[in-house]
Amino acid sequence: MARPSVNPLVTACRAGLLDRRGHARLSQDPFSGRVAVITGAGSGIGRALALDLACRGAVLAVSDIDVVGLGETARQCSTIGATVRKDTIDVTDRDAMSTYANDVAAQFGQVNLLFNNAGIIFTGDIAQSSYDDLERVIDVDFWGVVHGTKAFLPQLIASGAGHLINISSAYGLISAPSYSAYNAAKFAVRGFTEAIQQEMKAAGHPVQVSCVYPGAVRTLIMRTSKCADGQDHAAIHELFDKMARTAPEQAAVTILRGVHAGKGRILVGPDALAADMLARLTATGYQQLFQLARYLNEHQKDRKPARKER
Ligand SMILES: NC(=O)c1ccc[n+]([C@@H]2O[C@H](COP(=O)([O-])OP(=O)(O)OC[C@H]3O[C@@H](n4cnc5c(N)ncnc54)[C@H](O)[C@@H]3O)[C@@H](O)[C@H]2O)c1
Repeated sequence: MARPSVNPLVTACRAGLLDRRGHARLSQDPFSGRVAVITGAGSGIGRALALDLACRGAVLAVSDIDVVGLGETARQCSTIGATVRKDTIDVTDRDAMSTYANDVAAQFGQVNLLFNNAGIIFTGDIAQSSYDDLERVIDVDFWGVVHGTKAFLPQLIASGAGHLINISSAYGLISAPSYSAYNAAKFAVRGFTEAIQQEMKAAGHPVQVSCVYPGAVRTLIMRTSKCADGQDHAAIHELFDKMARTAPEQAAVTILRGVHAGKGRILVGPDALAADMLARLTATGYQQLFQLARYLNEHQKDRKPARKER
């Protein structure tokens, strides 16, 4: 019987000789053997983190509400040779997150890294946004991070070498019109995480804490997002696709580099660096830039010739 062909990259990656991009690995990887939990791992940055960690020898517990996307992430991680557990978990479900944390610890004996990554976005000026839409963003993007942190922190402390990584956004550094709920959730993640950084240090717990601020990353987040009535979905997607210069794989590399270096604040992409600088240098002065961008956008629309009716 013919033996199934084996991708040499996967074999080398599995052996720890090469990383997923085929670069030589020179020393024992710091993530090798570490147990990493990733929420929202069925797509985008979460999937890229899972695959990178899989290549680096980590043991994975991945979760998402998207069963199909999650299955694909788990399949790809298994192909690389990683031990991977997958669970369909909604991060807004506090009890489910708590049970999940106990189950993961029981299966793997410890939890070293938690990536609170699951998130959604919503676009709409406050006057046009429903309470349901605003609450959903806060529930997933803020309370999801709180539930993950509360559920897994005891395991991270007990591991003796834990790392909590919460994903905020460049919109956790500066605000933008039409993103009030998202801004609120991501600013809240930042405040929450910075408080825990201090608590862990003050208590002498062996847990490092990082808050991650990605700029626009080329994922499906905007395409799968909701908009308030009256918003131009297509134009929003188009603008996002133009702005999103960072690939999820690159975001994962930057995040894991920051985690390994023990950085408390991890900026992902040149736009996140710019947002950070604008917030520091201009206080609220950056708001004029958004006003200018809005004005130019409207002006450009007015100048576009109307499409001919067929
Ligand atoms: N893509 C960007 O430009 C960008 C920028 C800044 C911050 N972020 C943040 O990065 C994180 C990952 O986003 P992404 O861009 O990879 O998006 P994505 O849409 O590609 O992936 C997000 C994943 O979260 C999952 N998810 C959504 N709600 C969930 C819930 N209640 N419970 C469990 N899983 C849930 C989705 O099913 C999806 O698989 C989010 O927190 C997002 O806010 C993204």
